[in-house]
Amino acid sequence: MSAPNKQYDPVEVASLSPGEITRMRDEALAAVAAAGTLDELKAARLAHAGDRSPLRLANAEIGALPPGARAEAGKRIGTTMRAVSQALAARQQVLEEERDQRVLIEEAVDVTLPWDHRPPGARHPVTTVGERLADVFVSMGYEIAEGPEIEAEWYNFDALNIPPDHPAREMQDTLFVAGPDGGRSGMVLRTHTSPVQIRAMLTRPLPLYVVSPGRCYRNEAQDATHSPVFHQIECLAVDEGLTMADLRGAVQAFVDAMFGEGLRTRLRPDYFPFTEPSADVSMECHVCRGASTRPGGPACRVCRSQGWIELAGCGMVNPRVLIACGIDPDRYSGFAFGLGIERALMVRHGVTDIRDTLEGDVRFSRAFGVEA
Ligand code: DAH
Repeated sequence: MSAPNKQYDPVEVASLSPGEITRMRDEALAAVAAAGTLDELKAARLAHAGDRSPLRLANAEIGALPPGARAEAGKRIGTTMRAVSQALAARQQVLEEERDQRVLIEEAVDVTLPWDHRPPGARHPVTTVGERLADVFVSMGYEIAEGPEIEAEWYNFDALNIPPDHPAREMQDTLFVAGPDGGRSGMVLRTHTSPVQIRAMLTRPLPLYVVSPGRCYRNEAQDATHSPVFHQIECLAVDEGLTMADLRGAVQAFVDAMFGEGLRTRLRPDYFPFTEPSADVSMECHVCRGASTRPGGPACRVCRSQGWIELAGCGMVNPRVLIACGIDPDRYSGFAFGLGIERALMVRHGVTDIRDTLEGDVRFSRAFGVEA
Protein backbone atom coordinates (compact mmCIF):
# COMPACT_ATOMS: atom_id res chain seq x y z
CA MET A 1 0.00 0.00 0.00
CA SER A 2 1.31 3.40 -0.90
CA ALA A 3 0.78 6.33 1.43
CA PRO A 4 -1.02 9.48 0.26
CA ASN A 5 1.24 11.85 -1.61
CA LYS A 6 1.60 14.64 0.88
CA GLN A 7 4.13 16.41 -1.27
CA TYR A 8 1.66 16.97 -4.11
CA ASP A 9 -0.05 20.28 -3.44
CA PRO A 10 -0.47 22.31 -6.61
CA VAL A 11 -2.15 25.64 -6.18
CA GLU A 12 -4.10 25.59 -9.33
CA VAL A 13 -6.11 22.91 -11.25
CA ALA A 14 -7.21 24.29 -14.61
CA SER A 15 -10.23 21.98 -15.01
CA LEU A 16 -11.67 23.25 -11.73
CA SER A 17 -11.63 26.93 -12.60
CA PRO A 18 -15.10 28.54 -12.43
CA GLY A 19 -14.97 29.43 -16.12
CA GLU A 20 -14.13 25.88 -17.13
CA ILE A 21 -16.89 24.38 -15.01
CA THR A 22 -19.41 26.80 -16.46
CA ARG A 23 -18.29 25.81 -19.93
CA MET A 24 -18.68 22.10 -19.10
CA ARG A 25 -22.13 22.72 -17.70
CA ASP A 26 -23.22 24.71 -20.75
CA GLU A 27 -21.93 22.01 -23.06
CA ALA A 28 -23.66 19.31 -21.05
CA LEU A 29 -26.99 21.16 -20.95
CA ALA A 30 -26.76 21.94 -24.68
CA ALA A 31 -26.15 18.24 -25.45
CA VAL A 32 -29.09 17.20 -23.27
CA ALA A 33 -31.36 19.73 -24.93
CA ALA A 34 -30.19 18.64 -28.38
CA ALA A 35 -30.89 14.94 -27.75
CA GLY A 36 -33.89 14.12 -29.93
CA THR A 37 -34.15 10.45 -29.09
CA LEU A 38 -33.64 8.27 -26.03
CA ASP A 39 -30.53 6.82 -27.68
CA GLU A 40 -29.06 10.28 -28.23
CA LEU A 41 -29.84 11.14 -24.62
CA LYS A 42 -28.08 8.00 -23.49
CA ALA A 43 -24.99 9.08 -25.44
CA ALA A 44 -25.20 12.60 -23.91
CA ARG A 45 -25.46 11.07 -20.43
CA LEU A 46 -22.37 8.97 -21.03
CA ALA A 47 -20.42 11.93 -22.44
CA HIS A 48 -21.39 14.53 -19.81
CA ALA A 49 -22.27 12.62 -16.67
CA GLY A 50 -20.51 9.28 -17.17
CA ASP A 51 -17.44 8.10 -15.28
CA ARG A 52 -15.09 9.47 -17.96
CA SER A 53 -16.98 12.76 -18.47
CA PRO A 54 -15.05 16.07 -17.99
CA LEU A 55 -17.15 16.95 -14.94
CA ARG A 56 -16.43 13.62 -13.21
CA LEU A 57 -12.76 13.86 -14.08
CA ALA A 58 -12.64 17.40 -12.72
CA ASN A 59 -14.42 16.22 -9.58
CA ALA A 60 -11.66 13.67 -9.08
CA GLU A 61 -9.15 16.47 -9.15
CA ILE A 62 -10.63 18.27 -6.13
CA GLY A 63 -8.21 16.52 -3.85
CA ALA A 64 -5.36 18.17 -5.71
CA LEU A 65 -6.48 21.69 -4.74
CA PRO A 66 -5.06 23.51 -1.76
CA PRO A 67 -7.25 22.56 1.22
CA GLY A 68 -8.76 26.04 1.43
CA ALA A 69 -10.01 25.92 -2.14
CA ARG A 70 -11.55 22.44 -2.00
CA ALA A 71 -14.88 23.29 -0.41
CA GLU A 72 -15.62 26.03 -2.85
CA ALA A 73 -14.68 23.91 -5.86
CA GLY A 74 -16.57 20.92 -4.51
CA LYS A 75 -19.71 23.00 -4.11
CA ARG A 76 -19.43 24.40 -7.60
CA ILE A 77 -18.89 20.97 -9.16
CA GLY A 78 -21.67 19.43 -7.06
CA THR A 79 -24.17 22.08 -8.10
CA THR A 80 -23.19 21.67 -11.72
CA MET A 81 -23.47 17.88 -11.64
CA ARG A 82 -26.91 18.10 -10.00
CA ALA A 83 -28.04 20.58 -12.65
CA VAL A 84 -26.84 18.25 -15.38
CA SER A 85 -28.52 15.19 -13.89
CA GLN A 86 -31.79 17.12 -13.35
CA ALA A 87 -31.67 18.23 -16.98
CA LEU A 88 -31.05 14.61 -18.02
CA ALA A 89 -33.98 13.34 -15.95
CA ALA A 90 -36.31 16.03 -17.28
CA ARG A 91 -35.31 15.34 -20.88
CA GLN A 92 -35.65 11.60 -20.30
CA GLN A 93 -39.22 12.08 -19.16
CA VAL A 94 -40.09 14.25 -22.15
CA LEU A 95 -38.56 11.81 -24.61
CA GLU A 96 -40.25 8.81 -22.99
CA GLU A 97 -43.60 10.51 -23.17
CA GLU A 98 -43.01 11.31 -26.81
CA ARG A 99 -42.07 7.70 -27.48
CA ASP A 100 -45.17 6.40 -25.70
CA GLN A 101 -47.37 8.70 -27.76
CA ARG A 102 -45.67 7.56 -30.94
CA VAL A 103 -46.04 3.87 -30.04
CA LEU A 104 -49.72 4.38 -29.33
CA ILE A 105 -50.19 5.79 -32.81
CA GLU A 106 -47.75 3.64 -34.76
CA GLU A 107 -48.57 0.34 -33.13
CA ALA A 108 -52.29 0.83 -32.79
CA VAL A 109 -54.34 -2.24 -33.76
CA ASP A 110 -57.47 -1.59 -35.74
CA VAL A 111 -59.82 -4.15 -34.26
CA THR A 112 -62.40 -3.35 -36.91
CA LEU A 113 -60.19 -4.72 -39.70
CA PRO A 114 -61.33 -8.06 -41.21
CA TRP A 115 -59.93 -11.05 -39.35
CA ASP A 116 -57.35 -12.80 -41.49
CA HIS A 117 -56.67 -15.69 -39.14
CA ARG A 118 -57.49 -19.04 -40.73
CA PRO A 119 -58.39 -21.79 -38.29
CA PRO A 120 -56.38 -24.97 -38.76
CA GLY A 121 -58.06 -27.50 -41.02
CA ALA A 122 -59.66 -30.59 -39.59
CA ARG A 123 -60.28 -33.91 -41.25
CA HIS A 124 -63.85 -34.62 -42.17
CA PRO A 125 -65.87 -36.91 -39.88
CA VAL A 126 -66.61 -39.24 -42.82
CA THR A 127 -62.86 -39.79 -43.22
CA THR A 128 -62.08 -40.15 -39.54
CA VAL A 129 -65.03 -42.44 -38.84
CA GLY A 130 -64.08 -44.65 -41.81
CA GLU A 131 -60.52 -44.87 -40.56
CA ARG A 132 -61.52 -45.51 -36.97
CA LEU A 133 -63.80 -48.37 -37.98
CA ALA A 134 -61.09 -49.79 -40.22
CA ASP A 135 -58.68 -49.54 -37.26
CA VAL A 136 -61.02 -51.59 -35.09
CA PHE A 137 -60.96 -54.37 -37.66
CA VAL A 138 -57.21 -54.06 -38.14
CA SER A 139 -56.89 -54.66 -34.40
CA MET A 140 -58.83 -57.90 -34.90
CA GLY A 141 -56.39 -59.04 -37.58
CA TYR A 142 -58.07 -57.66 -40.69
CA GLU A 143 -56.11 -55.89 -43.41
CA ILE A 144 -57.17 -52.72 -45.18
CA ALA A 145 -57.86 -53.29 -48.87
CA GLU A 146 -58.44 -50.59 -51.44
CA GLY A 147 -59.68 -50.52 -54.99
CA PRO A 148 -60.09 -47.93 -57.74
CA GLU A 149 -63.07 -45.59 -57.86
CA ILE A 150 -63.21 -46.05 -61.64
CA GLU A 151 -63.86 -49.75 -61.77
CA ALA A 152 -64.32 -52.40 -64.45
CA GLU A 153 -67.92 -53.52 -64.81
CA TRP A 154 -66.74 -57.06 -64.31
CA TYR A 155 -65.54 -56.34 -60.74
CA ASN A 156 -68.42 -54.03 -59.91
CA PHE A 157 -71.12 -56.39 -61.22
CA ASP A 158 -70.35 -59.67 -63.04
CA ALA A 159 -67.95 -61.18 -60.53
CA LEU A 160 -70.38 -60.23 -57.76
CA ASN A 161 -73.08 -62.28 -59.45
CA ILE A 162 -74.97 -59.22 -60.60
CA PRO A 163 -76.15 -60.32 -64.04
CA PRO A 164 -76.26 -57.92 -66.99
CA ASP A 165 -80.01 -57.51 -66.72
CA HIS A 166 -79.95 -56.67 -63.01
CA PRO A 167 -81.70 -53.37 -62.28
CA ALA A 168 -78.65 -52.07 -60.42
CA ARG A 169 -76.92 -51.75 -63.76
CA GLU A 170 -79.62 -49.55 -65.21
CA MET A 171 -78.67 -46.09 -66.27
CA GLN A 172 -80.39 -44.44 -63.33
CA ASP A 173 -78.15 -46.15 -60.81
CA THR A 174 -74.77 -46.45 -62.42
CA LEU A 175 -72.50 -43.75 -63.78
CA PHE A 176 -70.87 -45.35 -66.81
CA VAL A 177 -67.55 -44.13 -68.14
CA ALA A 178 -67.81 -43.35 -71.85
CA GLY A 179 -65.37 -45.01 -74.24
CA PRO A 180 -63.39 -43.11 -76.90
CA ASP A 181 -66.27 -43.43 -79.39
CA GLY A 182 -68.78 -42.17 -76.83
CA GLY A 183 -70.14 -45.68 -76.25
CA ARG A 184 -69.58 -47.86 -73.19
CA SER A 185 -66.01 -48.41 -72.09
CA GLY A 186 -66.67 -51.32 -69.76
CA MET A 187 -65.73 -49.02 -66.88
CA VAL A 188 -68.04 -47.50 -64.28
CA LEU A 189 -67.70 -45.29 -61.26
CA ARG A 190 -67.96 -47.99 -58.63
CA THR A 191 -71.45 -48.12 -57.16
CA HIS A 192 -70.32 -49.85 -53.95
CA THR A 193 -67.14 -51.05 -52.22
CA SER A 194 -68.02 -54.71 -52.87
CA PRO A 195 -65.74 -54.94 -55.96
CA VAL A 196 -62.83 -54.60 -53.51
CA GLN A 197 -63.91 -58.03 -52.23
CA ILE A 198 -63.24 -59.46 -55.68
CA ARG A 199 -59.87 -57.74 -55.96
CA ALA A 200 -58.90 -59.04 -52.52
CA MET A 201 -59.96 -62.60 -53.29
CA LEU A 202 -58.10 -62.59 -56.60
CA THR A 203 -54.84 -61.21 -55.24
CA ARG A 204 -54.47 -62.19 -51.59
CA PRO A 205 -53.65 -65.56 -50.11
CA LEU A 206 -56.27 -67.41 -48.04
CA PRO A 207 -57.41 -67.18 -45.34
CA LEU A 208 -58.44 -63.63 -46.00
CA TYR A 209 -59.73 -60.92 -43.66
CA VAL A 210 -60.08 -57.45 -45.20
CA VAL A 211 -61.87 -54.20 -44.51
CA SER A 212 -62.30 -51.52 -47.19
CA PRO A 213 -63.56 -48.00 -46.63
CA GLY A 214 -64.00 -45.95 -49.79
CA ARG A 215 -65.90 -43.52 -51.96
CA CYS A 216 -68.73 -44.69 -54.22
CA TYR A 217 -70.91 -43.07 -56.85
CA ARG A 218 -74.46 -43.48 -58.06
CA ASN A 219 -76.55 -41.70 -60.60
CA GLU A 220 -78.92 -40.26 -58.01
CA ALA A 221 -80.38 -36.81 -57.58
CA GLN A 222 -79.23 -35.25 -54.36
CA ASP A 223 -81.86 -35.02 -51.66
CA ALA A 224 -82.02 -35.41 -47.90
CA THR A 225 -81.29 -39.14 -48.02
CA HIS A 226 -79.52 -39.66 -51.37
CA SER A 227 -76.29 -38.41 -52.79
CA PRO A 228 -74.42 -39.19 -56.02
CA VAL A 229 -71.19 -39.41 -54.00
CA PHE A 230 -71.01 -41.23 -50.70
CA HIS A 231 -68.81 -43.61 -48.75
CA GLN A 232 -69.13 -47.24 -47.79
CA ILE A 233 -67.17 -49.58 -45.62
CA GLU A 234 -67.00 -53.24 -46.50
CA CYS A 235 -65.81 -56.20 -44.53
CA LEU A 236 -64.91 -59.61 -46.00
CA ALA A 237 -63.60 -62.81 -44.43
CA VAL A 238 -62.83 -66.02 -46.31
CA ASP A 239 -61.56 -68.98 -44.33
CA GLU A 240 -62.25 -72.62 -43.68
CA GLY A 241 -65.32 -73.26 -41.58
CA LEU A 242 -66.71 -69.70 -41.33
CA THR A 243 -70.42 -69.59 -40.48
CA MET A 244 -73.11 -67.00 -39.89
CA ALA A 245 -72.12 -67.05 -36.23
CA ASP A 246 -68.79 -65.53 -37.25
CA LEU A 247 -70.66 -62.96 -39.34
CA ARG A 248 -72.79 -62.04 -36.34
CA GLY A 249 -69.69 -61.60 -34.21
CA ALA A 250 -68.07 -59.31 -36.78
CA VAL A 251 -71.26 -57.26 -37.15
CA GLN A 252 -71.52 -56.91 -33.38
CA ALA A 253 -67.88 -55.77 -33.19
CA PHE A 254 -68.65 -53.17 -35.80
CA VAL A 255 -71.68 -51.79 -33.95
CA ASP A 256 -69.77 -51.80 -30.65
CA ALA A 257 -66.99 -49.76 -32.29
CA MET A 258 -69.29 -47.28 -33.95
CA PHE A 259 -71.98 -46.81 -31.32
CA GLY A 260 -70.46 -48.06 -28.09
CA GLU A 261 -70.88 -51.42 -26.47
CA GLY A 262 -74.14 -52.89 -25.22
CA LEU A 263 -76.48 -52.48 -28.21
CA ARG A 264 -78.07 -55.65 -29.54
CA THR A 265 -78.00 -56.45 -33.24
CA ARG A 266 -80.37 -58.54 -35.30
CA LEU A 267 -80.22 -60.10 -38.75
CA ARG A 268 -83.29 -60.43 -40.97
CA PRO A 269 -83.47 -62.21 -44.31
CA ASP A 270 -82.70 -60.04 -47.32
CA TYR A 271 -81.39 -60.53 -50.83
CA PHE A 272 -78.07 -59.57 -52.37
CA PRO A 273 -76.76 -61.37 -55.48
CA PHE A 274 -73.28 -61.76 -53.98
CA THR A 275 -74.31 -63.34 -50.67
CA GLU A 276 -76.34 -66.46 -49.93
CA PRO A 277 -78.00 -66.43 -47.53
CA SER A 278 -78.24 -62.65 -47.24
CA ALA A 279 -79.49 -60.52 -44.38
CA ASP A 280 -79.92 -56.98 -43.31
CA VAL A 281 -78.34 -55.88 -40.07
CA SER A 282 -80.27 -53.77 -37.63
CA MET A 283 -79.12 -52.52 -34.29
CA GLU A 284 -81.12 -51.63 -31.26
CA CYS A 285 -81.87 -47.88 -31.30
CA HIS A 286 -79.07 -46.23 -29.34
CA VAL A 287 -81.31 -43.28 -28.48
CA CYS A 288 -84.53 -44.82 -27.13
CA ARG A 289 -83.27 -48.40 -26.68
CA GLY A 290 -86.70 -49.65 -27.62
CA ALA A 291 -88.62 -47.42 -25.20
CA SER A 292 -90.49 -45.80 -28.10
CA THR A 293 -92.07 -49.16 -29.03
CA ARG A 294 -93.70 -49.71 -25.65
CA PRO A 295 -97.30 -48.62 -25.15
CA GLY A 296 -97.30 -44.97 -24.06
CA GLY A 297 -93.54 -44.70 -24.67
CA PRO A 298 -91.98 -41.49 -26.01
CA ALA A 299 -91.74 -41.12 -29.81
CA CYS A 300 -88.20 -41.57 -31.17
CA ARG A 301 -87.07 -39.54 -34.14
CA VAL A 302 -83.92 -41.57 -34.78
CA CYS A 303 -85.53 -45.03 -35.18
CA ARG A 304 -88.96 -43.60 -36.06
CA SER A 305 -90.22 -45.43 -33.01
CA GLN A 306 -89.28 -48.80 -34.49
CA GLY A 307 -86.76 -49.62 -31.76
CA TRP A 308 -84.34 -50.90 -34.43
CA ILE A 309 -82.23 -49.11 -37.00
CA GLU A 310 -81.25 -50.76 -40.27
CA LEU A 311 -77.58 -50.32 -40.80
CA ALA A 312 -75.97 -52.75 -43.22
CA GLY A 313 -76.35 -55.56 -45.71
CA CYS A 314 -74.56 -58.82 -45.06
CA GLY A 315 -74.43 -62.50 -45.80
CA MET A 316 -72.33 -65.54 -46.54
CA VAL A 317 -70.32 -65.03 -49.71
CA ASN A 318 -72.23 -66.64 -52.58
CA PRO A 319 -70.33 -69.75 -53.80
CA ARG A 320 -70.66 -68.37 -57.34
CA VAL A 321 -68.58 -65.36 -56.24
CA LEU A 322 -65.97 -67.63 -54.67
CA ILE A 323 -65.81 -69.63 -57.91
CA ALA A 324 -65.45 -66.43 -59.99
CA CYS A 325 -62.39 -65.68 -57.87
CA GLY A 326 -60.95 -69.19 -58.20
CA ILE A 327 -61.73 -70.22 -54.61
CA ASP A 328 -63.01 -73.73 -53.87
CA PRO A 329 -66.41 -73.28 -52.18
CA ASP A 330 -66.31 -76.82 -50.81
CA ARG A 331 -63.25 -75.97 -48.76
CA TYR A 332 -63.73 -72.30 -48.01
CA SER A 333 -66.66 -70.17 -46.94
CA GLY A 334 -66.84 -66.46 -46.41
CA PHE A 335 -68.94 -63.74 -44.90
CA ALA A 336 -69.28 -60.10 -45.87
CA PHE A 337 -71.09 -56.98 -44.86
CA GLY A 338 -71.19 -53.44 -46.16
CA LEU A 339 -72.77 -50.15 -45.23
CA GLY A 340 -72.84 -46.43 -45.90
CA ILE A 341 -70.53 -44.38 -43.69
CA GLU A 342 -72.56 -41.18 -44.04
CA ARG A 343 -75.68 -43.04 -43.02
CA ALA A 344 -73.97 -44.55 -39.98
CA LEU A 345 -72.70 -41.08 -39.07
CA MET A 346 -76.16 -39.59 -39.50
CA VAL A 347 -77.65 -42.27 -37.26
CA ARG A 348 -74.96 -41.77 -34.65
CA HIS A 349 -75.47 -37.99 -34.49
CA GLY A 350 -79.16 -37.73 -35.37
CA VAL A 351 -78.41 -35.85 -38.61
CA THR A 352 -81.44 -35.93 -40.87
CA ASP A 353 -79.99 -34.51 -44.10
CA ILE A 354 -77.13 -36.35 -45.82
CA ARG A 355 -76.16 -33.07 -47.51
CA ASP A 356 -74.91 -31.85 -44.13
CA THR A 357 -72.30 -34.61 -44.23
CA LEU A 358 -71.18 -33.70 -47.75
CA GLU A 359 -71.02 -29.96 -48.05
CA GLY A 360 -67.73 -29.53 -46.21
CA ASP A 361 -69.10 -26.85 -43.89
CA VAL A 362 -66.63 -26.71 -41.03
CA ARG A 363 -69.47 -26.15 -38.57
CA PHE A 364 -70.66 -29.68 -39.31
CA SER A 365 -67.21 -31.15 -38.81
CA ARG A 366 -66.84 -29.27 -35.53
CA ALA A 367 -70.22 -30.30 -34.22
CA PHE A 368 -70.25 -33.91 -35.37
CA GLY A 369 -67.30 -35.88 -34.38
CA VAL A 370 -64.10 -34.13 -35.42
CA GLU A 371 -61.39 -36.40 -34.09
CA ALA A 372 -57.76 -35.45 -33.76
N1 DAH B 1 -72.85 -53.60 -51.68
C1 DAH B 1 -74.15 -53.49 -51.05
C2 DAH B 1 -74.79 -52.18 -51.42
O1 DAH B 1 -74.13 -51.31 -51.91
C3 DAH B 1 -74.04 -53.60 -49.58
C4 DAH B 1 -73.64 -54.96 -49.14
C5 DAH B 1 -74.62 -55.93 -48.89
C6 DAH B 1 -72.32 -55.31 -48.99
C7 DAH B 1 -74.28 -57.18 -48.48
C8 DAH B 1 -71.97 -56.60 -48.57
C9 DAH B 1 -72.99 -57.52 -48.32
O2 DAH B 1 -70.70 -56.95 -48.41
O3 DAH B 1 -72.62 -58.76 -47.94
O4 DAH B 1 -75.96 -52.03 -51.21
